[in-house]
Amino acid sequence: MKGLVLAGGSGTRLRPITHTSAKQLVPVANRPVLFYGLESLAEAGITEVGVIVGDTAPEIMEAVGDGSRFGLDVTYLRQEKPLGLAHGVLIAREFLGDSDFVMYLGDNFIVDGIVPFVEEFRRDSADARILLTRVSDPSAFGVAELDERGQVARLVEKPRFPKSDLALVGVYLFTSAIHEVIRGLSPSARGELEITDAIQRLIEEGRTVRSSEITGYWKDTGNVTDMLEVNREVLERVEPRVEGDVDEASEIVGRVVVGPGAVVRHSRIIGPAVIGAGCEVTDSYVGPFTSLSDGCRLVRSEVEFSIVLPDASIEGVGRLQSSLIGRAATVTTAPRVPNSTRLVLGDHSSVQLPS
Ligand code: TTP
Repeated sequence: MKGLVLAGGSGTRLRPITHTSAKQLVPVANRPVLFYGLESLAEAGITEVGVIVGDTAPEIMEAVGDGSRFGLDVTYLRQEKPLGLAHGVLIAREFLGDSDFVMYLGDNFIVDGIVPFVEEFRRDSADARILLTRVSDPSAFGVAELDERGQVARLVEKPRFPKSDLALVGVYLFTSAIHEVIRGLSPSARGELEITDAIQRLIEEGRTVRSSEITGYWKDTGNVTDMLEVNREVLERVEPRVEGDVDEASEIVGRVVVGPGAVVRHSRIIGPAVIGAGCEVTDSYVGPFTSLSDGCRLVRSEVEFSIVLPDASIEGVGRLQSSLIGRAATVTTAPRVPNSTRLVLGDHSSVQLPS
């Protein structure tokens, strides 16, 4: 069995971060979200993995390399434009050959991995197996309707009146039967080759499409709120350790990682939190569910429930909350004009000031 990881796309919901970097590399507890997916594939006994890359190919390739670090043998497959998830399968046709494969969306996060689902698929004789999870707002997802035997009867993309609360998770198991239906697909109204259309065709052709329900934690990290949620979930499980230098005047409470070379002075860090290598934290407060990536500076400031990307600097700022701060961004107070806010924001940035 092979793996196919989709790590292209346009990432519009995570702008402006995705103007300059791949959304699959946004860190969760200071590791790219994509790495967790690659590890799940390796854990399921898959070694040959194709990774679909788009405009952010160089960055993804640098981060993942040849895959050997994960126990994988990675082949990169270039998608000129994000023409849809099924288009990803189309361009991977040669790489996949006639193998069964797991398709894994590179921005999806499944806390407990995929081993049982891959095993179920290996055992049974279905043409495809999809993963489902119960959600409270099914109209925001691809939704599956099951028949009385528990087989997938219909898939509907973002239904206005959902007939079930079973949403599609971004991991799919396919046999080579999927290639034939994808060959016959036409682009949807949004101009993409939709994987839901391909699976629907399999069903209509009388093929067996089974499903497994995920009861553990799953999230698509496509937007900031979900990204922060996944970060929260993963931080709850980090092994605390202090490798940096924390002075006597500082207090560390709960599950906290302080990376090598980090310096914490006269500050309070309440876990779960991760302070990356080489960070400086001075006269500051780091609250629960916060990740500071490597090389960040936090001086006379407070940050909580946030992700801060490498080399950002935050100085003299009251409590920042539920924030995603980009690489080498600076947040500081305006000199001499205390009642004004000065902003230099990237395209599609979003700022919420106290009302
Ligand atoms: P999506 O989150 O559905 O799409 P997107 O990345 O274009 O994001 P947005 O909706 O915010 O604009 O994609 C799921 C995963 O699949 C993600 O890792 C990107 C990847 N992908 C591709 O590799 N090729 C594609 O053509 C598409 C649509 C997505």
